[in-house]
Amino acid sequence: MDINLAEGVGIDAQSVVTGRGCAIGQSGSGKSYLAGVIAEGLCKAKMPFCVIDTEGEYGALKKVFNIIVVGGDNKDIDIGVDFHSLFEASIANDIPVVIDLSDSMDKVSVANSALEALYKTEDRERSPYLVIIEEADIFAPQIVSSRYNVVEEISVRGRKRGIGLFITTQRPAKVSKNVLAQCSYGFVGKLTIENDLNAIRVLFSDRGRLALVTRLEVGEFVPFGTAKEERFKVKSRISQHSGETPSIWNVVQKNSRKSSIIGMLMGQGTTEEKAPKSRGIQEIDALHMAFDKEAATRYAERIMKRKFIIFGDATEKIGAVELRYLPFGLCSIRIPTSRRNEYLEYACLFNRRYELTKVGERIGYLTATDAAKHPKNSYKEYLIKGGLSVDRIKAQKEEVINGRMDMKRIKNSVMKFFHSAALTDLKIIYIPIYSITLREGNRIRVFTIDGLRGKPIVT
Ligand SMILES: Nc1ncnc2c1ncn2[C@@H]1O[C@H](COP(=O)(O)OP(=O)(O)OP(=O)(O)O)[C@@H](O)[C@H]1O
Ligand SMILES: [Mg+2]
Repeated sequence: MDINLAEGVGIDAQSVVTGRGCAIGQSGSGKSYLAGVIAEGLCKAKMPFCVIDTEGEYGALKKVFNIIVVGGDNKDIDIGVDFHSLFEASIANDIPVVIDLSDSMDKVSVANSALEALYKTEDRERSPYLVIIEEADIFAPQIVSSRYNVVEEISVRGRKRGIGLFITTQRPAKVSKNVLAQCSYGFVGKLTIENDLNAIRVLFSDRGRLALVTRLEVGEFVPFGTAKEERFKVKSRISQHSGETPSIWNVVQKNSRKSSIIGMLMGQGTTEEKAPKSRGIQEIDALHMAFDKEAATRYAERIMKRKFIIFGDATEKIGAVELRYLPFGLCSIRIPTSRRNEYLEYACLFNRRYELTKVGERIGYLTATDAAKHPKNSYKEYLIKGGLSVDRIKAQKEEVINGRMDMKRIKNSVMKFFHSAALTDLKIIYIPIYSITLREGNRIRVFTIDGLRGKPIVT
């Protein structure tokens, strides 16, 4: 799978994950932006990586992708996390990690302990994993010293263990030559300091290209060892523009897997589910739940991977079976047909991102007189038709996912999806779902099933 960097410019994700590359350029040339585009590509390709993020610039990835942020303003977990367990979980679950050092006093020692933990974990796992290091001149400086440096170690000996490296730097002249010389591909942005131009000369077989770099604009790079283009302008990032709207099921699944991992890292709920501390009761209108927690647990037992070892133990364990209520806008809409005075009625559901998630079966034709007689009944008929009913229930507050939906925004979405429709009724309802976490060592699988019929919800 290719990571797209610009129109017609791509690099192979697999080669990035296990290779050695760099982005070089003066301050503001667009290195972090480019590294961010690569990180987004890896997220899409579901390839795990970690970023040593000195400025707290990668937390925005969280808006769109399933990543764990350690430290900084966007943190999911504190910087004091046990890095060994963190990387074990990251590798086992293909979940990227951002280590935000923006508010760490001693960035070098935190980064070193993280990278040493990764190196040790990969000694055992040997699973493809990329490390992106911002401001590599800080972490792998060019000093004449025989002192052990973990970034050098990774760049020289990491490959056997499956670790790839991608560094960024403003000052290539100040980065360890051992690290720079390992880079078989990279991108050079605007650079004018003579020393730095000299330092990267070794990376270019085509010296003519090197002359270009003093004249580049922000976001423009001259590639070496990869794309054929002489230069290119890096495309826009997804996570800053939030162009992607993940589906509702995706979001549930995504967040529950992540929170299970974070719970595990914080030493909570390792095997036994802990009863949540009650934060109170919320009254909601929910679709009638036919599939209870016991049934959900039985379902979990059925899908558990059973590898019988000597004593006949199942190696996968149930981490948690959690009931959640997801809000939806249930709408009745009336669409005029080509015949005058005749309408079609539908029920449809909008998720909490105001996306249309389901259009119910057609409920029927209505004449204008019928329509006037029944100003608002179609979604109710839809529920009856589907054998569903809405109950007013008392739910635990922590079971209710992100309560509020804005009626006005639902109305706008209806108009967007069905131009000529009239919205005849609208009700916020909650659908019960179960999030099932299965755990095998540090590997976590999360399934979501609905609480109506116990059907798995496919992402
Ligand atoms: N391809 C691009 N498209 C749009 N904006 C860009 C692009 N590349 C960079 N920018 C913008 O230019 C500014 C500087 O980019 P960036 O932070 O990536 O620079 P940098 O090379 O990492 O600098 P520093 O070395 O100081 O960290 C940012 O505001 C960024 O949003
Ligand atoms: Mg930067």
